[in-house]
This record gives sequence, C-alpha cells and structure tokens, in this order.
Amino acid sequence: MTLKHIILDTDPGVDDALAFLLAFGSPELTVEAVTTVAGNVSQEKGHRNAKQLLEFLERTDVPVCKGAVRPLMRELRHAEGVHGETGLGGAILPEPEMKSDDRSAVQMIHQKADELGKELILVAVGPLTNVAAAVVGDPELPSKLNGLVIMGGAYNLTPYGHGNVSAVAEFNVWHDPDAAKIVFNSGIPMVCAGLDTTTHPDYRMGVEMFKEIEALDTRRSRLVVDLCRSIVERLKGFNLHDPMAVAYLVDPTMFKTQRCRVDVETRGELTRGMTVVERRHHRVVEEEVNAEVIVEVDAERFHRLIMDRVARG
Ligand code: BDR
Ligand code: CA
Repeated sequence: MTLKHIILDTDPGVDDALAFLLAFGSPELTVEAVTTVAGNVSQEKGHRNAKQLLEFLERTDVPVCKGAVRPLMRELRHAEGVHGETGLGGAILPEPEMKSDDRSAVQMIHQKADELGKELILVAVGPLTNVAAAVVGDPELPSKLNGLVIMGGAYNLTPYGHGNVSAVAEFNVWHDPDAAKIVFNSGIPMVCAGLDTTTHPDYRMGVEMFKEIEALDTRRSRLVVDLCRSIVERLKGFNLHDPMAVAYLVDPTMFKTQRCRVDVETRGELTRGMTVVERRHHRVVEEEVNAEVIVEVDAERFHRLIMDRVARG
C-alpha cells in the first residue's frame, strides 16, 4: 500500500469533523498538517475546533496552521445556522491546549510541497481561499503537487447536482468564488466531491445508520452523535459532504468520476459560485479537462467505511 501524504484544509464544521475522524482513522493516509480557513465559522472558531479535534484524536503531533480570515474579495458569511454556534453542532470538547504552528496555512502548503512534491495531495473541504493564495504565491505549485481533492461544487451531473446555498451554488465555492476560479484554472489535477453525490439520498447517513452509530455508545461514537444529531433530526439524515472527499483518497475504487471542463461563475446576479460544466461534448478537448467530478458511489462500501473508520475508529 502506498501511503498518501495529505494536508487537510478545512473550516470545521460538523462534516469537517467527520472528515478528521476518517482521515486520522485511515492507515492509507498520513496527515502532514491541518490548515484552517474561514467558512462555516470564523477562522478563529474553526481553528479552535481543529485543535479540539486533534486533541480528541490524540494527534497533537500534527501541525495546525491558521489560514485566511475572509474570502479573497467577498464579505464574510458563515453557516452557523447549519453547524451550530461553535461549528461543532452539539459536541462539547475541552478548551484546547495545543499550540498553533507558527507557519501560516500558505507557508505550510508551500513548505510541504517543496519537501514532498509529487507525494503531496491537498484535501480542501472548505472554501478554497488558502489553496488559491498558495497558488498565487507560488505559480509552480500546481506542477509540484500530486493533486487536489475538494468537497465543493454542484455540477448538474446527477439529479442532486443543484445548489445548497443558492439554487445553483454549493457553499464552499459560493463562499469564495474568486478563489475557486483561481484553483479550477490553476492546472492542479483535481477530483471534486460535489453535491451531485454528497446529497444523493442513497449516499447520505440515514436515520437508521445514525441509530446504529448511537447504539455503539463509545467515546468516539458519542462525538459523532453529538456532532450530527440536530441535523439528522431536522433533515432526516446527514449529508456526508467532507468525508466523501477523504473517502475518495482512501479508496478511489468505490467511486465513478466524470472528466469535465469546469469554470466558476463569479459575477452572476443569481449564479455567484456556480460551477459551470461544459456540456457541449464537441467543445471539450482533452487538454481542457480540468477536473474529475464524482458522479457515482458504491453506497454499501462507502457506508461501511464510514461505520468502520468514522464511528468505530
Ligand atoms: C460544504 O459546506 C460546508 O457547510 C460543509 O462543511 C461542506 O464542506 C457543503 O456544501
Ligand atoms: Ca467543510
């Protein structure tokens, strides 16, 4: 098994927290650093949440770096209505004691890319502000990296590929569309877990699965339950957005992807943050393909992975 070296760029966030549990519970991955970005909650809250999660996982050896406090050009808008006031739903974790790394998120990405080069994969499960800043700061970065896996976008490639924050836009891309545009056009090989599959009813955590997790009644499963309960009750299930991006790296054979040319709408009156897929097949030439979008998931294997690695650990 080849070990995959990742940096987890995140805005924790309840489903981000599940992505932590999966990433740190997977022997296929080694997390080189965690970098935080403003999104679901402020940079400050999300950073604190990241430290709390690392302490919960007893992984304070992993550097945690502060990143962007706001989108490149837009006003700050959080999603505390979904993720709760702290960002971690109903989970209550002790005040963190670990120190933040002195390096910024961008410095850490640059440094690890220089150290690890083609070994390094970025996993971005929040707005793409840090990744865009890293690209702008080092134009060679795209060719240094092995690739980038994101949770972001709504590609209209399945019946569920419509927006969540607006009719057409997914939250992470909508939050910082200018950053997303830079990243999609950067040349970094990208795989995208978007709403097309993360909101598909067959791939969600349903109420039954939630009850199964609740019945485990361990320290770890209780955290998952506290993170997810209010969303499960409100939406009769939980969309496994961010864990799906991590799961792709753990076992890509569970997923079908479609190679696409994707661009990001930054100016539209109704379409800010829309991920626009070129559908005119005669127009897409191989050199223009810039993303592989997940379009199908082996639901049984995905759910088993979530139970084994997120809930049981
Ligand atoms: C994405 O937005 C955030 O609210 C979630 O953490 C996820 O990364 C889903 O649109
Ligand atoms: Ca997120």
